[in-house]
Amino acid sequence: MKTTSTRLLLVVPLLLAVANLNLSAATASSPRERLLLDFGWKFHLGNEWGIGQNLSKAASGNGPASFSFSDSSWRPVNLPHDWAIELPFAQNADGSHGYKALGPGFPANSVAWYRRTFELPKADAGKRLCLDFDGVYRDCDVFVNGWFIGHHASGYSRFRYDITDVANCGGTNVVAVKVDTSDFEGWFYEGAGIYRHVWLVKTSPLAIAPDGVFVYSKFKNNVPEGPAEIHIQTRLANAKVWPARIEVKCSIIDPHGTTLATLRQAGQIGAAAKLDIDQTGQISTPILWSPESPQLYKLVTTVESGGQVVDQEETEFGIRTVAFDSEKGFLLNGQPYQIKGTCNHQDMAGVGVALPDALQYFRVQKLKEMGCNAYRTSHNVPTPELLDACDRLGLLVLDENRLVGSDPANLERLKDQIQQDRNHPSVFAWSLGNEEWNAQGTAQGAAVILTMQRLAHELDPTRECTAAINSSYGDSGFITVLDVKGFNYNLGSMDDYHANHLGSKYLGTETASTVSTRGIYTNDTAKGYVGAYDLVPLTGVPTPPTWTSTAEEWWSFYDARPWSSGGFAWTGFDYRGEPTPYWWPCINSHFGIMDMCGFPKDNYYYYQAWWTDKPVLHLLPHWNWPGREGKNIDVWCYSNCKEVELYLNGHSLGRKTMKKDSHLEWQVPYAPGTLSAKGYTDGKEVAETKVETTGAPAALQLMPDRPTINADGEDAGVFTVSVTDAEGRVVPVAANLIHFAVDGPGRILGVGNGDPSCHEPDVYFTRPPVHATELNDGWHLNLMSNVRDENMPELKPDFDDSSWSSADPKSDSGPLKENEQAVFRAKINVTGEELAAPEVQLHFGRIDDDGWIYVNGQKVGESHDWQSAPTFDVKKILHPGVNTIAVAVVNRYGGGGINLGVELDTPATPEPADWQRSAFNGLAQVIVQSTKEPGEIKLTAQTEGLSPATVVIQARPGTPRPSVP
Ligand code: GAL
Repeated sequence: MKTTSTRLLLVVPLLLAVANLNLSAATASSPRERLLLDFGWKFHLGNEWGIGQNLSKAASGNGPASFSFSDSSWRPVNLPHDWAIELPFAQNADGSHGYKALGPGFPANSVAWYRRTFELPKADAGKRLCLDFDGVYRDCDVFVNGWFIGHHASGYSRFRYDITDVANCGGTNVVAVKVDTSDFEGWFYEGAGIYRHVWLVKTSPLAIAPDGVFVYSKFKNNVPEGPAEIHIQTRLANAKVWPARIEVKCSIIDPHGTTLATLRQAGQIGAAAKLDIDQTGQISTPILWSPESPQLYKLVTTVESGGQVVDQEETEFGIRTVAFDSEKGFLLNGQPYQIKGTCNHQDMAGVGVALPDALQYFRVQKLKEMGCNAYRTSHNVPTPELLDACDRLGLLVLDENRLVGSDPANLERLKDQIQQDRNHPSVFAWSLGNEEWNAQGTAQGAAVILTMQRLAHELDPTRECTAAINSSYGDSGFITVLDVKGFNYNLGSMDDYHANHLGSKYLGTETASTVSTRGIYTNDTAKGYVGAYDLVPLTGVPTPPTWTSTAEEWWSFYDARPWSSGGFAWTGFDYRGEPTPYWWPCINSHFGIMDMCGFPKDNYYYYQAWWTDKPVLHLLPHWNWPGREGKNIDVWCYSNCKEVELYLNGHSLGRKTMKKDSHLEWQVPYAPGTLSAKGYTDGKEVAETKVETTGAPAALQLMPDRPTINADGEDAGVFTVSVTDAEGRVVPVAANLIHFAVDGPGRILGVGNGDPSCHEPDVYFTRPPVHATELNDGWHLNLMSNVRDENMPELKPDFDDSSWSSADPKSDSGPLKENEQAVFRAKINVTGEELAAPEVQLHFGRIDDDGWIYVNGQKVGESHDWQSAPTFDVKKILHPGVNTIAVAVVNRYGGGGINLGVELDTPATPEPADWQRSAFNGLAQVIVQSTKEPGEIKLTAQTEGLSPATVVIQARPGTPRPSVP
């Protein structure tokens, strides 16, 4: 590989108008296209076809892997998709994965196929064509046009296949993906399927290499005073068989949209070679990125060759410095910056692991409202759009690798992670692993993690590495070599280690694991609920979480130790699986500060009080305790006010002084009515709050998170459903079963309620009943020496086959012998009623070995896999009355022919699904996704005996992202 570099330009603002003009001109002429391949997939749960790959011959995938396989009876799905949430719960399934009926013991639910058919224009010939999969859980095989393209095991790393050689430009192409979740990777719910985006990327043969742009800033002494040095590395790849002269132009656009200047570098790239270009510029007064002010620059990289723009890519980046200090802890832009973080899995009510991008933004926003400033992507590489959301909304990210290892495959994955994520300003450090208890204390472990750390430094000179360690804090293992010592739990050990290693740098990689259920105030083993007071249930529960601390314990510990850098609570949101401290019937974790829907639990307000500057005043529990009149109730208050006074029905119960990082408690004899509080700081009342005894459920309310979403087929609105009393107050114990319907250009994606023991479905879909008409009578066949002439009269509708011998398509095999060929024909009667069905499919039990199928003289498809049951969509070709089927069959081995019966399948129009969910402690959630049509989306919620609710949001016209038609 050759490297060329420039180091010249002072970046100064140019005239805005000129800059914009240049940019749009360049964009228009770049051949690069990045097309979303999320829409229009077909999905089949189960694998009746074996491995898919024919190991004896190329380009001959079996079953769904073959080009000509018919998937017309499969279910249409859009990506991202998680089939695990569609499955029932089963007590004998893996509890740490949330008791979904897949994985070990559930082979029928653990393997599935996806297929997508698309056309490529002739003009694509000569381009490089790549398929980018952002994440498939897991163990998948990919086929394109019958060719085996690749196998990818991990469910958490992105992978890319160059499909140029096997693509059919100017014709039809089929991608088939077999996904196998028979074995798990983690110990938490991991979903199943193509749960991140898929892209088709088209470039010219001379182009920027994948992940070929790296831009970072540097300041003198790593403190952002004075100008920022901007370093840009561009890797070009030339797939052509001749060398080329190139010029790379890098334009930097500031957060206001002003183009600052353009760096230019010319060079020569060899045939079938790569070339690295290094450029350096300066920004004299940079606008810094931080979670509080997430200012983003844009780099536009343009590659020219032979007077043409051959490629152009845009890269968002931020200018900021990160560092760790042994005394001051983490430093952002040169200043101590306490990490107020949460660890999270990608998993949400209604959608499982398949989050549309809008839900990444929704969750980041929720965390920010709580005062959280950092996110640990436990325990895997994040979905790219999560990092976009963190860059744009402002959240630091500890970007975590899946598995520790210095074997070639693992190092390759680490390399990919870093090259994929290193331009994101939100990423402040790399976490190389989590709780690797077989390795973290050993000499081999230290050697392995050191190799990984060296690779990370090589690829990214700007960030340090840590790992989440939960034991072995001695003189061997990970802790001895890591840049930053990551501590999971074990607060005492952290102090001990620090006392002996004052010069080291630290981070609380994981802490808390506080368990609580939203709106529940006593532990309930039968239902699997934990009281929401900030306590650790060490007795009275089946699996006490002995390693955990309360929110108050861990935060006051870290807050008092600046060298610790702060830490990450386990977890921001509940997730499926790990139903600590219970198991069945509990199916999801209780660790979240928010539940699966993102509804705050009481601890949320503890964090908000000590993680934000706005006045916070929150009382718990709710005040609906019929039957407990006169008995003491524990009343807690989370607040950052200096003093809080509590009142019951207007009578003061005393004023108390709040200690930093703490909470207040009262014992209050219960009387229905109003429990209220006033908060004072510096003698002034700054906040008040109340909880009231409510009446019985009387009405439903719907509240969207946003009034408008984009009509792009991807954006999604999140609706909170509340059960209220006659005065509009949320009834904190309501559990009504609520039905939902949507009208207009939207579809319900999923529902949830945050109940960790709820076994109601998150998704509903109806399978229309299929009416099958047998077409097994009146078949004739004629043996011929060659049936491959498309124009032969035997395939035409008016051919007289009355002299041919009769055939029985219901037979198990035959009647053709090895190497025999024949045309099979039948006349069928079709009614207007059958043709009115939304789909009309001609279904063959088997065509053995090769078949070319004609209806009324028109070819409807081919079949080359004797094991598949080929099905063809014939709605447009059939007409009411008599129609003719003709099938040319070539039998290569053994007996062959048309076997196992022929049918005309007409599915009924699907009834709309009856979407429903019970409220849990007064609340439920509905997620609605836009279609590509603009207009009003109306969501209705109703339940017996209560006033229904309706809310309208707008699907705003816009430009959907470019996608594969
Ligand atoms: C940690 C682990 C997490 C989760 C958590 C539950 O030890 O890193 O993945 O299992 O415990 O408390």
